[in-house]
Amino acid sequence: MSTTRGQWGSRLGFILAAAGSAIGLGNIWKFPYITGENGGGAFVIIYLCCIALVGLPILLGEILIGRMAQTSPVGAFQKLARPKSPWMGVGFLGVIASVVVLSYYSVVAGWAIHYTVGSVTGSVLNADIAQSKAAFGALYENGMLNVIYHSAFMFATALIVIGGIQKGVERASRVLMPTLFIFLIILAIYASRLSGFPKAFNFVFGFHTHDLKPAGVLEALGHSFFSLSVGMGAMLTYGSYLSKHDDIVAASIATTVLDTLVALLACVILFPITFTAGIAPSSGPGLVFINMPVALAGLPGGALLATVFFVLLVFAAITSSISMLEVICAYFIDEKGWSRKKAVITTSIFIFLLGIPSALSGGKGFFGAGVTQIVGKNWFDAFDYLASNWMLPLGGLGIALFAGYRIDAAARAADFADGSRLGKLLFVYMGWLQLIRFVAPIAILFIILHAIGVV
Ligand code: TRP
Repeated sequence: MSTTRGQWGSRLGFILAAAGSAIGLGNIWKFPYITGENGGGAFVIIYLCCIALVGLPILLGEILIGRMAQTSPVGAFQKLARPKSPWMGVGFLGVIASVVVLSYYSVVAGWAIHYTVGSVTGSVLNADIAQSKAAFGALYENGMLNVIYHSAFMFATALIVIGGIQKGVERASRVLMPTLFIFLIILAIYASRLSGFPKAFNFVFGFHTHDLKPAGVLEALGHSFFSLSVGMGAMLTYGSYLSKHDDIVAASIATTVLDTLVALLACVILFPITFTAGIAPSSGPGLVFINMPVALAGLPGGALLATVFFVLLVFAAITSSISMLEVICAYFIDEKGWSRKKAVITTSIFIFLLGIPSALSGGKGFFGAGVTQIVGKNWFDAFDYLASNWMLPLGGLGIALFAGYRIDAAARAADFADGSRLGKLLFVYMGWLQLIRFVAPIAILFIILHAIGVV
């Protein structure tokens, strides 16, 4: 065990880092497009319920386990259960999920780099929808370009994580997160003055149940995990760098509120622009990369707005990717006694290599559309499917059950309340316990049964 473990410099630093982990491509790229595909309103409300009743309790459980154990996920489960306890499988699953998700997340972040550069030079603007679609398709198929952007993004991630907790992760989050909030609010004000705003507002916040299908409910649940970064030990690891007297109840609530606000803000920005440009809201994963440039190109100051928007997307992605890399490195630092430098360099090279097939997935070659790969999908889609449908729900289930039934009850109650005014209220603690023991596991079981086609 390393004797000089990192610690957060301040409570705000921790909240910004945790919010930085949660807020990412999931909020700005994925949430708006799945909202669009599921018809808006009702999906948003279901999502908010999933966040409050399942996501938040598990987030709190993860941070609690991390803080109690003060070590990486794999060690944490052994420390709080017993050495070599099978529970450590949950920790291992988290480390593996982080490797898998980071390897393809970096490729999508690479697209955001491409669109940032293209907004500055203007090469991705001035296109109509057909041209924009073709441009995105050309990027998707260009394996070499994807590998280059992927390597650049992994390099930047490694550079921050090598700096350690306070000098790397916390410092980056302290600068990047407030910048992100400020610019998103400016963009939202801009969007609120567009002619498509009322229609967009009604689309996102109106209650249209007829468009919501059962699959949408499950998608909302799965996405609430992904968005809050729970189920793979990332929040557990960040929690392990907290001191005993930090208020984890308030920090979890703050993280959840910020994450949700950014997802909603992204909708409030994207849909007015989309409606004003007369584009359908249900255009899938291309909503950001295909529609935004077209929509913005037609607006005054569009090139500048597009640049700001895609830079923010890169920022949001990097404060998430550093937390994934941190989980993986914490394992080697805490369990194997590696130096931070050795851990970061070795693991990021490995993840870079593992991401290459995802970067090549859009092409016609071995990993892409030409040859059917794992579970009938190309490599990129297969990784996303395995992580979202299997690894995160299973990890979340493990965390909920461990926090709800396995850890010492007296220590759990004391740690929950330590340093927290809210945590000392009995109904808050009992409410959380019921959610994590019953509501969360049942909901997750439901996702898993859906994934194997039973319900
Ligand atoms: N929450 C991130 C996003 O919304 C993605 C993510 C999922 C993540 N699991 C994670 C980030 C674990 C960091 C750690 O984009």
